[in-house]
Amino acid sequence: MITIGLIGTGYIGPIHLEALSRIEGIKVKTVCDVNESLARRTAEKYNIPECCRDYMEIINDDKIDVIHNCATNRFHYPITMAALEREKHVLSEKPLAMKLEEADELVELAEKKGVVTGVDFCYRYYPLVQEMAVKVKNGEPGKVRMVTGTWFQDWLSNPTDYTWRLEKSESGDSNIAADIGSHWFDLIQFVTGLKVSEVMADFATLIPVRKKPKRQVLAFEKVGVEDTEDFKVELEEYSAVLFRLSGGVPGTFTASQTCAGRKSDTEFQIYGEKCSYAWNHKRSNELWIGYREKPNEILIENPALQDKSTAKYASLPAGHPLGYHDAVLNLFQDFYDVIKNNEETTPVSRPTFKTGYDEMKILAAMVNSQRSRQWARVKW
Ligand SMILES: NC(=O)c1ccc[n+]([C@@H]2O[C@H](COP(=O)([O-])OP(=O)(O)OC[C@H]3O[C@@H](n4cnc5c(N)ncnc54)[C@H](O)[C@@H]3O)[C@@H](O)[C@H]2O)c1
Repeated sequence: MITIGLIGTGYIGPIHLEALSRIEGIKVKTVCDVNESLARRTAEKYNIPECCRDYMEIINDDKIDVIHNCATNRFHYPITMAALEREKHVLSEKPLAMKLEEADELVELAEKKGVVTGVDFCYRYYPLVQEMAVKVKNGEPGKVRMVTGTWFQDWLSNPTDYTWRLEKSESGDSNIAADIGSHWFDLIQFVTGLKVSEVMADFATLIPVRKKPKRQVLAFEKVGVEDTEDFKVELEEYSAVLFRLSGGVPGTFTASQTCAGRKSDTEFQIYGEKCSYAWNHKRSNELWIGYREKPNEILIENPALQDKSTAKYASLPAGHPLGYHDAVLNLFQDFYDVIKNNEETTPVSRPTFKTGYDEMKILAAMVNSQRSRQWARVKW
């Protein structure tokens, strides 16, 4: 039995717990949160024997083999560092750390300790995103000519909406580029197999002063009429990026969390020599394939029609759409298979600390570009 300790029981922690409850041969021993009553409620809900408020209790527990790091960005580095020092496997939330140098250290130490690492870039684990990656790898679209996409949400569109993601000390040098941008660039690098080589980023703060409640606010929580103070927004609420992939392939990305009516409109389009692909999170079980010389197609998520290597991710019969929980489960299953089998079985699809570090390099280039108002190269 593989034993797990999970740190951070806000929004994403319980999503990890849902997925973990569906994997054989593992058990969660302890959950931790600085908000002790939240940790206790979460432990009760998920039938977890122990809870605590100090993450070092989990790190120092010799019975725990794996740490899930679901705390806010500021704690990714110290928690993961402490876990690696105790030779524990780590599945971290993104971004891997707040600074590039920290991410570098984590990759190096994980390699030295020989532990299994993962970063929760879960969107690449939707069955049809995996399928698209196989199609590109098999050369079906020919050479990729251009890539474009957007990610719009509305959960921060009112001045009364607040999240720690907008605070530099909690989030790092970026809000959007680090938060949803890291997922989006992971998606397109994963599908195309190409690396972002340079970027030109334009960030903007759209609501300069917000109302910050004097209590803890979890992600996506709606703030009511309550005691607040004025909060000067420190990071971007709009992010637009022109970029080039390896070989000069051009692309664009625009994102914001202030777009009324847009919930999690995440989409990307890949235009190749022979055909085009488009995927949208709102209809995540459909892959649009566009042609010049014949009618376009929509491939519906279907284990019977997908490549052998991706069918396992479409775990229900066609017509029964999977969702976000299942994408997270797919990622976790691959992560735990590596621990159980003591070997990397799916190196192509699994995001490791190296992947998290690579994303931090793109992020660093975007922040540099925004500051200098010029194109910036990603330092691979
Ligand atoms: N992969 C994804 O799709 C996805 C989605 C959402 C969030 N995330 C990532 O997950 C992380 C958490 O985000 P969230 O949305 O759950 O935020 P949240 O604010 O809802 O929850 C964070 C929790 O961590 C706790 N916490 C903070 N510092 C801690 C510490 N030192 N020890 C123990 N607990 C601590 C907080 O009390 C809170 O309960 C972020 O890094 C975010 O980028 C990833």
